[in-house]
Amino acid sequence: MKDQKMLMGFTLKHLLVLSLALNVGLISRVVYVGEKSVSGLCLENQDKKEAHDSKKSRLVTSTVSKELQNGGDGVIDLDHGDPTMYERFWHEMGEKSTFVIAGHQSISYFSDVRNLCWFLEPEFANSVVRLHKIVGNAITEDRHIVVGTGSTQLFQAVLYALSPPNASEPMSVVSAAPFYSLYPLLTDYLMSALYKWAGDAYEFSKDGPYIELVTSPNNPDGSTREPVVRRTKGLLVHDLAYYWPQYTPISFPADHDIMLFTVSKSTGHAGIRLGWALVKDREIAKKMTNFIELNTIGVSRDSQLRAAKILQAVSESYDYVGNSKETEPFFEYGYNIMAKRWKQLRAAVNKSKLFSLPDFPPGTCTFSGRTFESQPAFAWLKCEGEIEDCESFLRSHKIWTRGGKYFGVSSKYVRISTLSRDETFDLFTERLSAMELESP
Ligand SMILES: Cc1ncc(COP(=O)(O)O)c(C=O)c1O
Repeated sequence: MKDQKMLMGFTLKHLLVLSLALNVGLISRVVYVGEKSVSGLCLENQDKKEAHDSKKSRLVTSTVSKELQNGGDGVIDLDHGDPTMYERFWHEMGEKSTFVIAGHQSISYFSDVRNLCWFLEPEFANSVVRLHKIVGNAITEDRHIVVGTGSTQLFQAVLYALSPPNASEPMSVVSAAPFYSLYPLLTDYLMSALYKWAGDAYEFSKDGPYIELVTSPNNPDGSTREPVVRRTKGLLVHDLAYYWPQYTPISFPADHDIMLFTVSKSTGHAGIRLGWALVKDREIAKKMTNFIELNTIGVSRDSQLRAAKILQAVSESYDYVGNSKETEPFFEYGYNIMAKRWKQLRAAVNKSKLFSLPDFPPGTCTFSGRTFESQPAFAWLKCEGEIEDCESFLRSHKIWTRGGKYFGVSSKYVRISTLSRDETFDLFTERLSAMELESP
């Protein structure tokens, strides 16, 4: 009876939302007008990214393979954190990570009408909880799971949920520099009256409520982070996209009020476009769900089912440990590649007098038992000496990176993705070493 009532209330309310979304053509026109500037990865670095669509990435990839045969002097694009380095693992997993969706599946908008997040597939939720339990990187008990089209959508949902609708001015949104380059763009692109980007958390001195984004390990510099503003009216959002054992030692199960995760950086499935939020407060989870209802009327069910299969395959790769050598567990695979790449990168940087990289303190990982230094998904490279614009300098050597100004700091820094395919990364480190030889 209670369920029936819930369902009735749910259905009426949600039908209203659906009919609104399906009938108001104007909304789609407005969205379309905005699309040019928000499409694809343009958001990350608007002024020079317009040509950076997937077509271009494919072109660059093929250029790289071609140039490998020709001695390797073409463009190396390490600007985006496109996690293609996991491709080989998933290729080898074959059937174990293959999910077939029949024509009759996922037809309804609704996944689980009894759940606060009614578009969350139970299988996806179960696979998220199972994986967190195995890795020990986040508490899932007494949390609501909200699924989003990438953690990018959840980020916007969380800003919406945390900003009071009747405030006299927009809520300030801050993050310690260097911060993820998308935060300012995502916060301000709609010029919302609810929230506004207020820059570097270290510089934030305004009274009143604010949202602080705590990204740990951080994109771009890989540092482990805590909140920096620490005032009573602050609301914290922990972006834990990289809190996985291939990148950093897991030191405790994270237990924050709002935590964001994504399959893009955990398993490398950026194209599935799925993220999840673990949220303590029911009202916040509800408002996030409302945002996603209004924004996209839920999240692809097909994607969730596929992601569930992927996450299960990761969990199951640990069932085999000790029993069979058939499958290398996923995080072992990721850890080993990252370790190799960081070694290779540090060797190239050490050979040169032109650059430096941050050092990370060693920590013991509660998941693997291994003691190691973080080996982040991005290298935060500094051009030493007289080179002031590191991005342009590397660009003149046909290496595309993202300059420090996009992260709120000096252009002596660049962010370099370490998640490319092997051949691209090898070519990059080779070229970096050779640059030292060419320098005066
Ligand atoms: C810190 C951080 N948060 C969120 C995201 C976005 O993830 P998604 O692909 O799930 O939208 C990224 C992607 O690079 C990221 O680096």
